[in-house]
Amino acid sequence: MITEEIRALKERENAVILAHYYVDGAVQALADYVGDSFYLAKVAAKEQKQTIVFCGVRFMGESAKILNPGRRVLLPEAAADCPMAHMADIGQIEALRREVEDLAVVCYVNSTAELKAASDVCVTSSNAVKIVSSLPNQNILFIPDENLGRFVKEHVPGKHFYFSGGHCPVHAQLLAADVESEKLAHPNALVLTHPECTAEVCAASDFIGSTAEIIAYAERSPAREFVLCTEPGVLYELARRCPGKDFYPVTPLCADMKLITPQSVLRCLLEGSGEVVMDKGLMEAARRPLEKMLALG
Ligand code: 13P
Ligand code: SF4
Repeated sequence: MITEEIRALKERENAVILAHYYVDGAVQALADYVGDSFYLAKVAAKEQKQTIVFCGVRFMGESAKILNPGRRVLLPEAAADCPMAHMADIGQIEALRREVEDLAVVCYVNSTAELKAASDVCVTSSNAVKIVSSLPNQNILFIPDENLGRFVKEHVPGKHFYFSGGHCPVHAQLLAADVESEKLAHPNALVLTHPECTAEVCAASDFIGSTAEIIAYAERSPAREFVLCTEPGVLYELARRCPGKDFYPVTPLCADMKLITPQSVLRCLLEGSGEVVMDKGLMEAARRPLEKMLALG
């Protein structure tokens, strides 16, 4: 059985498996740690095992490697990338730095290592408000996700925000009309939403938070039904933690996250394939904003 083969290979390779809530449930079931981006970055930074198998998209594996460079980090699907990670431009960042005084460049972890290296601090969806609030700077360039940036702006009054126009193609395609029609079908349901969704979808929501925050909210809520405005991979953890509650997902699947299968986990452990290899200078430059996130978050 594949689970047994993976267990044996994990022993042989002195490996640990990390999985994001958006990967397929069959992959989450194999993992030693399952969580949101912030949790997994913290786990990866402290991991003692020699090999980290990161079941997620490229920027997650890169962050693990940058934070714990002595470990071998394997991506079961090297092609699994986050399109939003590329939606900002280093030339524009540098131009704005020259133009605007007292500017902090805040970079969502869903970004390339090059963008992180050009930034002052990284954030995830679960710590962005806290970290941006704590910055002394009056002006914030928030890259690459304009929707998360807008959400942060709403919660951090008194600062001026600039954006790079990026978005998550999965969350941003959800329409407020889709949410409204699901609410009509389930009038008792609460709407739980990831801040990568548009302003219109957020306005139609009862709770907005990261994947881990959405799961925790559903678990403690007395409500029994929820419309789910985030990637449906979270259903696996919700089923485990919220027995008897009903969830109605309206967001499409993230095709990149869904590339990862138990077979690809097995293959990368067997062959050592999908290793994250990065330039040393780039890793050092990108480590500074990531470590600042761990310190402030
Ligand atoms: P979180 O893990 O911070 O909830 O982010 C979701 C996401 O889009 C990861 O790609
Ligand atoms: Fe990127 Fe969106 Fe997929 Fe997350 S859900 S990995 S932000 S494309």
